[in-house]
Amino acid sequence: MSVHIDAKKGDIAETILLPGDPLRAKWIAETFLENPKCFNEVRNMFGYTGTFNGKPISVMGTGMGVPSISIYANELITEFGVKNLIRVGSAGSYQEHVKVRDIVLAMAASSDSGVNELRFGGANFAPTADFNLFQKAVEVAKIKNISIKAGNIFTSDEFYTDNKEAYKKWSKFGVLCVEMETAGLYTVAAKHNVNALTILTISDSLVTGERTTSKERETTFKDMIKIALELA
Ligand code: ADE
Repeated sequence: MSVHIDAKKGDIAETILLPGDPLRAKWIAETFLENPKCFNEVRNMFGYTGTFNGKPISVMGTGMGVPSISIYANELITEFGVKNLIRVGSAGSYQEHVKVRDIVLAMAASSDSGVNELRFGGANFAPTADFNLFQKAVEVAKIKNISIKAGNIFTSDEFYTDNKEAYKKWSKFGVLCVEMETAGLYTVAAKHNVNALTILTISDSLVTGERTTSKERETTFKDMIKIALELA
């Protein structure tokens, strides 16, 4: 086992789906995978491995924020040999044309997280998606007739911000939406020369104040998972 994951070598597939919520990981495993087996219960951060269309695939929660996802991504890669890390999460829209329920592929992640500033001594690193995973996700979405948007997103350290107008600066520069993990995931993947992609469903809009209901989130979440599962 590693510090935070109680699994044996070989228990985790090379491709893993990473929702923030561990109960979402359980739901994905029980809804979409054949023969899902739980490999982790440490901190209730449930992880499962099963198959999809005969191919091994895992799914595990990451918790919220850059530090949490960075810990799990690190251990999955260095201790368990995971090669393809696909975050599936929700995000708040920064743009009028990015509507609730839309699916967004994160090509890159701008951020206010202090982690990379520390790591690169004040210089900027641009965390980016793996090109092959990104290209494949675009193809799968096309085949399945699922509409997607793609571009720069924002990884924030704050969910409850003091300045409600601050997002407009990012919005002006074309950033599509905000979440809290991708800059960390893409950076850890780059450090270890493995592949990462974030697929997001818009759950709320900072522009209009609109929010999806939890029932709606479940339905739109399914389209995002259908794309992610084909990347194994
Ligand atoms: N995830 C979903 N909506 C979000 C928001 N408004 N801010 C940060 N992360 C989010």
